[in-house]
Amino acid sequence: MTLARLYPVIKPLLFAMDAESAHRLTINALKVIKPTPVTLPDDSSLRVTLWDRNFPNPIGLAAGFDKNAEVIAPMFGLGFGFVEVGTVTPRPQHGNPRPRVFRDPASNAVINRMGFPNIGMNKFKTNLEKFLESRPRPAGMVGINIGMNKSQTDPAKDYCLLVRTLGPFADYISVNISSPNTPGLRNLQDPEAFLDLTAQILEERTKACGKEMPPPLLVKLAPDLTPDQQEALAKAALKSGIDGLILGNTTLSRPDTLSAAFRDQKGGLSGEPLTDKSTDMIRNFYRLTQGKLPIIGVGGVSSARDAYDKIRAGASLVQLYSALVFQGPGMVKKATAELAALLKADGFAHIQDAVGRGA
Ligand SMILES: Cc1cc2nc3c(=O)[nH]c(=O)nc-3n(C[C@H](O)[C@H](O)[C@H](O)COP(=O)(O)O)c2cc1C
Repeated sequence: MTLARLYPVIKPLLFAMDAESAHRLTINALKVIKPTPVTLPDDSSLRVTLWDRNFPNPIGLAAGFDKNAEVIAPMFGLGFGFVEVGTVTPRPQHGNPRPRVFRDPASNAVINRMGFPNIGMNKFKTNLEKFLESRPRPAGMVGINIGMNKSQTDPAKDYCLLVRTLGPFADYISVNISSPNTPGLRNLQDPEAFLDLTAQILEERTKACGKEMPPPLLVKLAPDLTPDQQEALAKAALKSGIDGLILGNTTLSRPDTLSAAFRDQKGGLSGEPLTDKSTDMIRNFYRLTQGKLPIIGVGGVSSARDAYDKIRAGASLVQLYSALVFQGPGMVKKATAELAALLKADGFAHIQDAVGRGA
């Protein structure tokens, strides 16, 4: 039986458990079962070449699902065109007290305040190397999402150390300065702090990976930036020399439609209530940067239509996480196939032709 068929059977069991225990069980099961990879139709219209890298399709796994780089191969097996692992910090850390992840099936949303629990960069690197040495290696790209330890007072030190240690293994690096669960992290979105941090990281990247074809450096931003902050950051991003933006992380906002018990949990909200907010942010940044800075769009993608909306708003690639929780693994293959159909219906021969066409 395929994983997609199995999911409706095991979903009630997973939902009867605390969200994080269900997630841990899923990761452990994926490591043991090693499910057979799905076969996607070989559709050239979905291939994306970006930063001289080839993405088999534009739908990726967002950061936070595979924090420790434990299940990269099985996640490619679901049909993802790329997998972003992390957030990883230099030293291992436990994160915030549990419970710290909450699901709301009524709104298909998640709130988390995990605070970067992870095994630290050395063990993470061992896991990553195991994947990279495996044969045959899946075709997709692997992004590494990096963050600072909670105890660090000089953020650039941690980010530079992570780039030095993990940069040579990455197809791209995602600099996370937007998680709401590490105190002070979002202050790095202040344009001056942003320019200072990215300059140091870019210098470190050249030292660690050379000038030839270093992993592209992307910065992941929060969807809670005001229009003025977005404008200032777009200018800073263009000036900084980074290669792209990931838009965006979870939100601190709480739509009125959420039930009171769920809404009151502290942390970052993801899933369907975030869909339009993040698409609007993508459109704003695409306009503000005149399409010069590639964008990975993420936030509430739960169907091909959501992915397509983000691409038309200006995203070159998209990611998802929360939809997997509610719909299960079969949704990746389904969304990919339906995305190809949406493209065709609009007369686009290739996904790259649709980027920003609705901006
Ligand atoms: C439980 C959970 C943990 C997450 N952990 C991280 C993380 O470690 N680093 C990060 O950059 N984003 C993290 N995210 C945010 C996701 O990568 C993504 O930006 C956000 O969930 C919006 O996408 P979605 O609506 O498809 O889930 C996490 C999200 C969830 C639900």
